[in-house]
Amino acid sequence: MLTTTTRAAAAAAAATLVLALSACGSGGDAPAAGGGAGGDDDAIVMGFAQVGAESGWRTANTASIQQAAEEAGVELQFSDAQQRQENQIQAIRSYIQQQVDVIAFSPVVETGWDTVLQEAKRAQIPVILTDRAVDSQDDTLYETFLGSDFVLEGEKAGEWLVENTQGEDQVNVVELQGTTGAAPAIDRKEGFESAIADAGNIEIVASQTGDFTRSGGREVMEAFLQSQPDIDVVYAHNDDMGLGAIEAIEAAGKVPGQDIRIITVDAVKDGMTALSEGKINFIVECNPLLGDQLMELAEQVVAGEEVEKRVLVEESTFTQEQAAEVLADRQY
Ligand code: AHR
Repeated sequence: MLTTTTRAAAAAAAATLVLALSACGSGGDAPAAGGGAGGDDDAIVMGFAQVGAESGWRTANTASIQQAAEEAGVELQFSDAQQRQENQIQAIRSYIQQQVDVIAFSPVVETGWDTVLQEAKRAQIPVILTDRAVDSQDDTLYETFLGSDFVLEGEKAGEWLVENTQGEDQVNVVELQGTTGAAPAIDRKEGFESAIADAGNIEIVASQTGDFTRSGGREVMEAFLQSQPDIDVVYAHNDDMGLGAIEAIEAAGKVPGQDIRIITVDAVKDGMTALSEGKINFIVECNPLLGDQLMELAEQVVAGEEVEKRVLVEESTFTQEQAAEVLADRQY
């Protein structure tokens, strides 16, 4: 059970967060404690703790969730953690305090969730992980995990590089990692490294986090260009950091996509535009349109139905030619 002190802290956190929620234009009025929101008493109330607004992918993901909630008649309480785990934990505690019907969140980092998830479990509020996983021994702390296979994404990036650098003597790669400790940063690194391991000619000569942001990608790439005399390839864990790297490469008087080849992950519209223009060489897709599947899962878990513990998202890859073909129809 929660202690009186913890409950008081949670109540204070809830009060603070409700203000933050109304300030960021969430999906509806804050629900009254005890469940049920202002309007339809039967509507499912979902508390969603988003990572932040760090990338084009995240913007598309948030829009998908908000639109799907509206279409499904789910009352969405939405919070933006600004890429800070403590903000996400505070948001989840607020949703527990409000007794929402279901909590969903995309964890900023993999570890450190057991305590707050145990609190949700004790309050009998089901939890759905979306997009990113948690690293926990106890998989009863959440109902299901809906999201991509990030290791596979890293492997696809590495396999493309191996295929496209055959016969080259030495290929020096600089890696722009996502947020330190985040599942996609850990897994995309692991998948890429395993795919290039046997190639013999590919070496990661520098690797640093750009925090999944365009400005982070640009700053780290500027430093790499100063410290690394011979860069052949940039492997960026998302499009935004790759786009930042393009700015740094151009500012250094080099031609992105030619002097330095670039591989990214996501396939958002800005990334696909750069790919079709020849500034990026290959993109591994990570699909942000999780909203409809999330609402379906929420309805099932709230109804007490069994759901698959792991729900994978289908994804593709894009070459420059393929990007040019699909760009006009790209939704995000
Ligand atoms: O968790 C998904 C990743 O988070 C996306 O690839 C990246 O753009 C985002 O910030």
